[in-house]
Amino acid sequence: MTTLQSPKPRLNSAFKQLMSVHWWMAGIYLMLMVVGTVMSQLDRNAPFRSELYDFHKSFGVLSVILLAWRLILLFRVWWKKYTKRSPKLTADWIRTTILHSSLYLFMVSVPVAGFLRSNSFRANNVKFFGLALPDLFPQNEAMAEVGRGLHFWLSYTFLAFIGLHAIAQWKVIRANWRRFKNFVLTKRKPA
Ligand code: HEM
Ligand code: HEM
Repeated sequence: MTTLQSPKPRLNSAFKQLMSVHWWMAGIYLMLMVVGTVMSQLDRNAPFRSELYDFHKSFGVLSVILLAWRLILLFRVWWKKYTKRSPKLTADWIRTTILHSSLYLFMVSVPVAGFLRSNSFRANNVKFFGLALPDLFPQNEAMAEVGRGLHFWLSYTFLAFIGLHAIAQWKVIRANWRRFKNFVLTKRKPA
């Protein structure tokens, strides 16, 4: 959603806060993908299966709460930036805006499909770290399968878009990797 063409807006505190939430959420999404993939392969009677499901759902809900905060921060970044000057509609800006908007659509639709899957499978099935949450969808066996398929396909398409986004931000990954390597090497040097 945000594209940064001049270095100045990066320095404002709204953008720093937005990026801080960005990294927390990126970690949570990647963890949800791994836990989701593992838990859905488990045998019905496998130990800790239901704990893993509760863990997955709780962090899925947490991602929605963080998303609400992120949208407020995003709005502040936009407000500061685009009330001063309208964006230059370059091909790069349009491409980045479409990719980031798609990521936001996944951030909403993936957990909604998770709710559809859980609620239609069984009522009162979603807890936020032990706190029972109201159902968003009625119990319905047929819809449970639809929810399952939707949650599956949306999650892995989301992951593919994250991959595209990571490729687009390759320079940042390389710079962070170099910083990490230098940090490790300087720590290892004998005094
Ligand atoms: C895989 C590791 C990731 C890297 C290296 C990365 C890198 C970055 C960087 C450097 C920016 C700032 C771009 C700019 O200057 O405008 C950015 C923004 C953004 N990233 Fe990522 N990102 C990663 C993972 C994710 C994930 C998992 C999501 C999931 C939704 C995501 C969604 C976004 C969005 C929507 C923005 C625009 C700023 C915002 O609205 O928060 N990124 N990313
Ligand atoms: C953005 C947040 C989320 C991500 C990235 C995510 C990701 C995933 C992934 C990758 C799977 C494995 C799919 C499969 O292989 O069948 C999965 C399964 C599952 N997720 Fe999520 N999920 C999220 C949020 C939620 C939420 C909020 C709920 C419920 C409220 C939920 C409920 C479930 C359930 C019940 C399964 C197991 C489906 C089955 O048994 O086939 N997820 N999730």
